[in-house]
Amino acid sequence: MSIKLNNTFMGESITKEAFESMAPVLSGAYEKLMKGTGKGSDYLGWLTLPDTYDRDEFAEIKKAAQYIQNHCDIFIVIGIGGSYLGARAAIEFIKSPNYNQLKKNTPDIYFSGNDLSSSSLQELLSLCEGKDVCVNVISKSGTTTEPAISFRIFRNLLESKYGEEGAKERIFVTTDKAKGKLKELADQKGYKTFVVPDDIGGRYSVLSAVGLLPIAAAGIDIDAIMAGASEARKQYASCDLRQNDCCRYAVLRNLLYRQGKEIEILVSYDSAAQKLSEWWKQLFGESEGKEGKGLFPVSVTFSTDLHSLGQMIQQGKRNLFETVLFFKDKQEIVIPFDEQDPDGLNFIAGQTMDYVNEKAFTATAMAHADGGVPNIILEFDGRSAHSFGFIVYFFELACALSAYMLEVNPFDQPGVEAYKDNMYALLGKPGYEDKKQALEARMQNR
Ligand code: PA5
Repeated sequence: MSIKLNNTFMGESITKEAFESMAPVLSGAYEKLMKGTGKGSDYLGWLTLPDTYDRDEFAEIKKAAQYIQNHCDIFIVIGIGGSYLGARAAIEFIKSPNYNQLKKNTPDIYFSGNDLSSSSLQELLSLCEGKDVCVNVISKSGTTTEPAISFRIFRNLLESKYGEEGAKERIFVTTDKAKGKLKELADQKGYKTFVVPDDIGGRYSVLSAVGLLPIAAAGIDIDAIMAGASEARKQYASCDLRQNDCCRYAVLRNLLYRQGKEIEILVSYDSAAQKLSEWWKQLFGESEGKEGKGLFPVSVTFSTDLHSLGQMIQQGKRNLFETVLFFKDKQEIVIPFDEQDPDGLNFIAGQTMDYVNEKAFTATAMAHADGGVPNIILEFDGRSAHSFGFIVYFFELACALSAYMLEVNPFDQPGVEAYKDNMYALLGKPGYEDKKQALEARMQNR
């Protein structure tokens, strides 16, 4: 497995000299990361995780996944942000966006606690009627409102259905090893717990128990995921701008940013990668977007979105570039010949859908590059557990390097607190009385 960076469709945007001039900036960032001397260096656990992960906990994850597979029809995964996006990305990328509809001997998996919509929660509760249910609640802080509400409701459901003892067997908690409300509750109730390592932040945590338990419950080979991530770690173990495509990606996007690009669009040609794109958006958005800096990460699926956003990309404001994930599909659907040719498609009869998709990709990359939207192409073999692990590590490393090149801390998210503080105040959380008064006065003056 490797990810091959293809820069054929970058247009005239970046000269060889400009690219090579970035070598010292990159090696400065790389050294900070590897030596642990940069900002946020308490959160570098993900760097070595593919090789140093806790084998005992890994075995426990597999055991719990087996239990979940044997004891439930529906598995509810409760978490928000980094506490759910990675697992959801893996299940859709490796299995299918239609995972729940597939014929399978693993439970249906639903994600909850990632918004405050009462109708989606109500719908999920109805789906659980008459079914056996297990729950995995995931929160590093153990205090996040959205998952806490969902967990309270599902805990009540499980306790009324199976009794307190029965519910205990069906609730799995992934949180801090020692602190937080969730940890206290888990200890008090005797729930099985998994640990979010201290030195791994939410959006870098998919290869810890945070992601691995739901992924394993879906019947995915988590050894293969870790092997893929470990292979990426080896491949990117030295910072050579000519050979290390992860570093090349970080440098190219940084140069485009310096040239005035403001938006990076992650493009894929397969809807199975949509949630992977959501994971990528959080990773880069929360890591880079601070101190007035950073590329705004967005995502599209082509060719679907060529018929909605294609116009904007081709001819709108020239402040964008695209990073394209391109991989071969496993299926070989051949376009049939039709004697009458009523739809005029006989010119591609006998070709595979994959062939047509590849031509759409090349045609689009050329058109967008010609229209002033540079395309960084990341090519890899296809969708598998191994490639998922590899891709996760590739982007985590590229993201941390990118943030260090911007001179921001890749591992904090101070801006997320602003809405939380306002919400707590408006909801009347103890300790927020003054803020509540100030906010209410503001609202009255509107
Ligand atoms: O990357 C992050 O740290 C965040 O997105 C968190 O994962 C998210 O806010 C959820 O936090 P917690 O796991 O503490 O509930």
